Amino acid sequence: MHAWVNGRLLDDPAAPSVTVRDHGFTVGDGVFEAVKVVDGQPFALTRHLDRLARSAAGLGLPAPDAAEVRRGVDAALGAEHLTLGRLRITYTGGVAPLGSHRGDAPPTLAVVADVLQPRGSTTTVATVPWPRNERGALAGLKTTSYAENVVALAYAAERGAGEAIFGNLAGHLCEGTGSNVFYVVDGELRTPTLGSGCLAGVSRALLLEWYGGREVDEPIDVLSTADEVFLVSTTRDVQAVTRCDDRELTGPGPVTADCQRVWAEREAKHPDP
Ligand SMILES: Cc1ncc(COP(=O)(O)O)c(C=O)c1O
Repeated sequence: MHAWVNGRLLDDPAAPSVTVRDHGFTVGDGVFEAVKVVDGQPFALTRHLDRLARSAAGLGLPAPDAAEVRRGVDAALGAEHLTLGRLRITYTGGVAPLGSHRGDAPPTLAVVADVLQPRGSTTTVATVPWPRNERGALAGLKTTSYAENVVALAYAAERGAGEAIFGNLAGHLCEGTGSNVFYVVDGELRTPTLGSGCLAGVSRALLLEWYGGREVDEPIDVLSTADEVFLVSTTRDVQAVTRCDDRELTGPGPVTADCQRVWAEREAKHPDP
C-alpha cells in the first residue's frame, strides 16, 4: 500500500497523517472515489474525478483541484506497479471545530493505492430492512458517511451474502452498499433510475452506454421474479447474482454473460472511456 496525503507521498503509508480534528474523521464530512487499477493504469479516472467534483459540490466543499488529484494518483501509483489494484481518493472538509460546523482550513486530500483481490464472476445478495433515502441531502453523493453501508453489509454477511441490497423510501429497488443492480425481465435488461437515490455508478453508466438497458423504477420485489440479477461496480465489474435472499438463481444467465463479455472487451480497449 502507498499513500499520498496533502501533496506528500508518505514513507510509511500506515503512519498517522490526518489530524483528529479533520471534519472527515469527526463527522464524515468528505467525499471519495474508488478507482480500479489495471496493469498500473487507473481505469476511467476522468469519470471518477468528475464524480468526485460533483460529490464535493453536493456537500458544499470547494471544488477539488483535478490536476492535484492526478498528481496524487501518479505519485501513489508510481511507488509500486499494481497489476490489479484499487485507488482510494478521499477529499474532506479539513480541520474544523468538533461539531458539524465547517472550519476555514483547506480540505484534506489523500490518495491511497493498494492491491485489489479479484472478486470472481458471481456473488450472493441479501435485501436489507433499511431504506435508502432518495430525498435526503446526501442522495446520490459518494460521501465518506458510509456507516449505513457498513451496517447493511454486516447484516448481509450474517446471512452468508456478499452484498446487501437496498430499496428506497418508495419501496423501489435502489442499489447495493458499493454496487449498482441490473436485472432481466422477459429478456429486457433494466436498472433503477438515478432518481431512485442510487449512486451514479461509473460502471453503471459504462454498461448502459456499451450494452444498453432500460432505466426504470419498480418495487424491490422484482428481485424475487427477475430472470437474472447482476451487480456492477469498480471492484466487481459485472458480477452475476446466484442467490438473492432465499432464492437461488442459476447464473450467469445469458444476458449477464453477454454483459460480462462486452465489459471485458471494452474495458481492455478503453482505459479512460
Ligand atoms: C453506494 C454505491 N453504489 C454504487 C457503486 C458503484 O459505483 P462505481 O461503478 O462507480 O464503482 C458504489 C461504488 O463503490 C457505491 O459505493
